[in-house]
Amino acid sequence: MDKETLKQQINQLRTEKKAIILAHYYTLPEVQEIADFVGDSLALARKAAETDADIILFAGVHFMAETAKILNPTKKVLVPDMSAGCVLADCCQAEKLAAFKAEHPDYKVLSYVNCSAAVKALSDLIVTSGNALKLVNMLPADEKIIFAPDRNLGDYINRMTGREMLLWDGACSIHDHYELKALKALKEAHPDVPAVAHPECRRELLEQADFVGSTAAMLKFISDSDIQEFIVVTESGILYELEKRNPGKTFYTLYNAAIEHDCVNMKKNNLVNIYQALLNEAPELQMDEELRQKALVPIQRMLELS
Ligand code: 13P
Repeated sequence: MDKETLKQQINQLRTEKKAIILAHYYTLPEVQEIADFVGDSLALARKAAETDADIILFAGVHFMAETAKILNPTKKVLVPDMSAGCVLADCCQAEKLAAFKAEHPDYKVLSYVNCSAAVKALSDLIVTSGNALKLVNMLPADEKIIFAPDRNLGDYINRMTGREMLLWDGACSIHDHYELKALKALKEAHPDVPAVAHPECRRELLEQADFVGSTAAMLKFISDSDIQEFIVVTESGILYELEKRNPGKTFYTLYNAAIEHDCVNMKKNNLVNIYQALLNEAPELQMDEELRQKALVPIQRMLELS
C-alpha cells in the first residue's frame, strides 16, 4: 500500500473504531501528520486522561502507552511496536528502587514520567520535564527526596530549586550523549544565535543554553520569539513541529539527523504498523490491575497539581 492509501485506511479505521491516535513530537513526520494529537509527555498524559475514545493508539514509547493504560483501564491501548522501549526508563529497575527506598525510609520518591509502571507504583509523585520545577517547588522545603531515573534532569531541578534530591544514576541515551564541543562549535559558527536545550542534557550543555525546557516549552519559546534563528539541542523529531509553526525560521542541530542521534524507539512507529495495529486491534498493552492502581496514585497527584 502506498502512503496515501495507508493514511486513508487509517482514517477509516480510526472513525469506525472510535480510536484516537496520540503521538510524541519525536515520532516520524508521517506519524505526527496523521495523529489526532501530538504533544510532549505532559500534554500526552493529560490528553490520555480526558479522551472519550474507545481505543487509544499510542505512537510513542512503552512507558507512555503504560501511562495511558493506567489512566484508562477500560480502554484498549494499542502500541504499534511493543519493542519501542526507553533506555532511560530501563535504567531504573523497580526491585533496585525498592531496595534503595528501603534504605531511605524517610525519603519521598519523585519519579520522572520516563519510567516503568512498576517504578511509578513505588513513587509518591510523578513529574514530567514540563512540570518538574513547579511541582518540586510545591513540596515542603525540608522534604527529603529521591529522584529517579534521570540524573541530568534531577541535577537541573536541584540547581534551579536549591534542593538536594538524591539522584538515581540514569540518563537518556540520546540527550546524555550530546557533546559540549559540538554545541560550542555550533555557537562559534553562529555567534548570536540563542540555544535552547532539553533538561535531559548534561549540565555542561545546559549551562551554555539560553533557554531550558520540555519539548513543548522549547516549541513555545521559539514560536513566541521574533528571533529568526535557533540552535536546538534535543531529539530531531521536534523539527517537524518547529518548522510547521515557524516558517522562515532557521534551526541548527548539533548533528545532522543520523540514526545514532535520534531516538530509534520513537522512530519505530510508522504508517504501516499503525494501520496494522488499528486493523487487528493488536498489539494491546495489558497491565496487572493491582499494579495499575498503585501506579495511578502518583500520576493522578501530578495531574491534580500541574
Ligand atoms: P518531554 O516530552 O517531556 O519533553 O520529554 C521528552 C522525552 O524524554 C520523551 O521521552
